[in-house]
Amino acid sequence: MSSNPARSAPFGSILTDFMAVAQYRDGAWGPHDVRPVAPLPMHPAAHVLHYGSTCFEGFKAYRHDDGSVHVFRMDRHIARLRQSARSLVLPEPDAAQVEAMVLAVIDRNRDAVPEAPGALYLRPLLIGTMPNIGAAATPSNEAMLVVLASPVWDYFAGGAKALRIFVDDKNNRCAGHLGVVKTGGNYAAALGPTLAARKEFGVDQVLFCPGGEVQETGAANFLLFRDGRILTRSLDSTFLHGVTRDSLLHMAPDLGYQVEERVFTVAEMLEWVKDGEAALSGTAAVLSGVGTLIYQGREITCGAGGIGPHTQKLRAALVAIQTGKAPDTRGWLRKV
Ligand SMILES: Cc1ncc(COP(=O)(O)O)c(C=O)c1O
Repeated sequence: MSSNPARSAPFGSILTDFMAVAQYRDGAWGPHDVRPVAPLPMHPAAHVLHYGSTCFEGFKAYRHDDGSVHVFRMDRHIARLRQSARSLVLPEPDAAQVEAMVLAVIDRNRDAVPEAPGALYLRPLLIGTMPNIGAAATPSNEAMLVVLASPVWDYFAGGAKALRIFVDDKNNRCAGHLGVVKTGGNYAAALGPTLAARKEFGVDQVLFCPGGEVQETGAANFLLFRDGRILTRSLDSTFLHGVTRDSLLHMAPDLGYQVEERVFTVAEMLEWVKDGEAALSGTAAVLSGVGTLIYQGREITCGAGGIGPHTQKLRAALVAIQTGKAPDTRGWLRKV
């Protein structure tokens, strides 16, 4: 499968041929069907289009050397989708229903699961479809759950460039209580500051640090490494509780790292990166090294400015589990 189209396509730009769709009506979820990917019929008054009632997930299935396909920590992602649904007062599908839809999509698109270091990226999407433009303060009593899949490649496998990150201590990525929710509006909210920083400083991403406390970037968590230590923000409502972050923190002690989860400031981060490393973690980013921080007009080099050895070591250890090259001692993979 070396000619896999995912190899050269931007992340998420190619979809597989089939998706799964289920509807919520009259107080209950109906059965799903698997159908060719095509536009969905939706009323122009649908709740999601006006009041943003939407949440989603993103996780990956990997093809191992023997051809079998394994999905990584699906239970955690489904739990997060359900938590997002509850926060947004959307009809909450039960875990078994989401799981059945994901498995049906993988099965129907099995041939499209790329070999490592590619993967099949799975994207469940939940939207409020009640047609009522007067429902600003009323939850949607109709909903649709869609599961899409996209063959993706790992762009960092070949030794990508370290990232340039703008440190923003003015803007919030999103409302403080919604950081933990994976909802479309959060990404729309981060877009303006991100594009402005890209234009002014040529950065890849923005690290949001409202009030001078380090949070996360637009679509990934933030970690620091130094002297056998890992520092990352402790869980609270202001940022997304990444499954990749959680996985790395669980693996860290076995790899010789001590984990510190706490609130820390931009000033402390700048101290750490003098001789430490910074990296972004996420399903798409895996663990991507940060080479440069831009703060108050200054360019600050992180460590030696490239992708540091700790970042490479942790990333390789995680990818080895995901791709079946190292034993999955924590039961994170599910053969599907
Ligand atoms: C805002 C944000 N933070 C963090 C993450 C990383 O989460 P995960 O590791 O579960 O993919 C993501 C990606 O899903 C994200 O969108």
